[in-house]
Amino acid sequence: MKITISDINHIQQAAKEFVSQMGDSTIFAFYGKMGSGKTTLIKAICEELGVEDVITSPTFAIVNEYRSATTAELIYHFDFYRIKKIEEVYDMGYEDYFFSGSLCFIEWPELIEALLPEDAVKVHIEEKEDGAREVII
Ligand SMILES: Nc1ncnc2c1ncn2[C@@H]1O[C@H](COP(=O)(O)OP(=O)(O)O)[C@@H](O)[C@H]1O
Ligand SMILES: [Mg+2]
Repeated sequence: MKITISDINHIQQAAKEFVSQMGDSTIFAFYGKMGSGKTTLIKAICEELGVEDVITSPTFAIVNEYRSATTAELIYHFDFYRIKKIEEVYDMGYEDYFFSGSLCFIEWPELIEALLPEDAVKVHIEEKEDGAREVII
């Protein structure tokens, strides 16, 4: 499935559409270059899911935890960009998150590809020449 985000003003609408397509999946891996819009889309999706916290990529930790104010469910947001060794991912206890049943949104999944559960949903984001974003699920 493809969602086109023509400009940043349409991000919330795109997030709503994304959420409507999520089904029962819990692990979503966001592939795309630096600046393609992964964090921005995840932020909009989390807002759509009722998260009221400020959502930014995890800077000091690998994972940020949010709670939806509407469903009280936990949501985990990972950014593996800075990991240097896969041991760091084992050490942070990634399995406890991935197999928790809670929603997990992952930036830079290619850096932990071997650890991604088989049923992870792969999402590809690309910036087009005109600045629009194409999201392929
Ligand atoms: N759908 C979009 N349309 C236009 N600009 C966007 C869109 N998504 C993100 N941006 C802009 O692109 C820049 C990088 O976005 P970001 O989400 O941080 O990318 P990534 O996490 O993939 O590195 C930000 O300045 C953001 O405002
Ligand atoms: Mg990012």
